[in-house]
Amino acid sequence: MTAAAGYLSGFGNEFATEAIDGALPVGRNSPQRAPLGLYAEQLSGTAFTAPRAQNRRTWQYRIRPSAMHGSFTGYDQRRFHNDFGGGPVTPDQLRWDPLPMPAEETAVDFVDGLYTMAGNGGAAAGAGIGVHMYAANRSMQGRFFYDADGELLIVPQLGRLRIATEMGLIDVQPQQIAVIPRGVRFRVELPDGQARGYVCENFGAFLRLPDLGPIGSNGLANPRDFESPQAWYEDVEGDFELIAKFQGHLWRADIGHSPLDVVAWHGNHVPYRYDLRRFNTIGSISYDHPDPSIFLVLTSPSDTPGVGNMDFVIFPPRWLVAQDTFRPPWFHRNIASEFMGLIHGAYDAKADGFMPGGCSVHNCMTGHGPDAATFEKASSADLTKPDVIADTMAFMFEARAVIRPTAQALTAAHRQRDYQACWAGLSRHFQAPAG
Ligand SMILES: [Fe+2]
Repeated sequence: MTAAAGYLSGFGNEFATEAIDGALPVGRNSPQRAPLGLYAEQLSGTAFTAPRAQNRRTWQYRIRPSAMHGSFTGYDQRRFHNDFGGGPVTPDQLRWDPLPMPAEETAVDFVDGLYTMAGNGGAAAGAGIGVHMYAANRSMQGRFFYDADGELLIVPQLGRLRIATEMGLIDVQPQQIAVIPRGVRFRVELPDGQARGYVCENFGAFLRLPDLGPIGSNGLANPRDFESPQAWYEDVEGDFELIAKFQGHLWRADIGHSPLDVVAWHGNHVPYRYDLRRFNTIGSISYDHPDPSIFLVLTSPSDTPGVGNMDFVIFPPRWLVAQDTFRPPWFHRNIASEFMGLIHGAYDAKADGFMPGGCSVHNCMTGHGPDAATFEKASSADLTKPDVIADTMAFMFEARAVIRPTAQALTAAHRQRDYQACWAGLSRHFQAPAG
């Protein structure tokens, strides 16, 4: 692996970076001859005429244009797809153990290790999400991947990732996230030899920081903590493979060189990383719970104001001080649908069964909340003292549309078929007043 060049701080900024001095043209995007014999190419992430605040594009100065590769043919990796079904979908509460790691003797890289759990919508609709997990034990070697269908929000749970992208190198570890915009080509290396995590494939509007309203000008995820890579490139040739995800299916093409050959670039359609431990967690200092939107990191807005196509929410370490309050998350039913995962530690609404690497789906209007053991403990907790949840990092992909589990997820051996039993022990406490 080549050394990382460093990072550029900020969210949605127009960055300009060059791996070789003078590689970036000054004063124009497409000069008659780009510096150093490079090709100029624009990568657009939004419609050309999108309002300026939402407009995303990057100009790249590369050794070869992206058009240079062989014809695409179908690539057979059937565990990774966008077939969320059109038939009946169960309203049951659903939960899974961690996705099993591949057997040692089977080499599985990031692309081959992707496993689709659930989703809704699709690339053709321009709305919805695909929810995937990955479990891999080999770095991608001689192959590169891009997703034309959606932006990829990668949430590592086990093992570090080095994501070598067209724009540069991104290193992430569990409790950090990486976002790879639509179309950006990349390779995933596994410095620890194995890795597992979650991926949200966002078919809707690109993720952005939420407005803060009365919270003010600081708090939640702060823009300067988002980091995009400085320009970095590799100049290598060989019998390589380009894998594309296009309209729900995977394709492969021969490519005779690394497409990670961008020597300089400027723009704002860029990959980035963020450390979830930098999130400025805000909550009640009197009583009751704010809605979990107070834990919103990034949002993909829909066409309806205030309604996200997908909201990425975390449940980070925090102090619980609310008085006369049941401190864990209460029972609830929402119009939104929730896919939850646990990156680290324990989640405060479940006594057991929800393990790091596990996940759950609670769909629209399906009741859920603390299990019986958590209810009993929290109902009699001493509220005169603050409590701290120090060792935790859970997250939620919250979607406007129902999150439809895939057939392979419903029939998987690692699905917890007895999940609903966690509420079975909730005792009846009601006593009508006498008379
Ligand atoms: Fe919930």
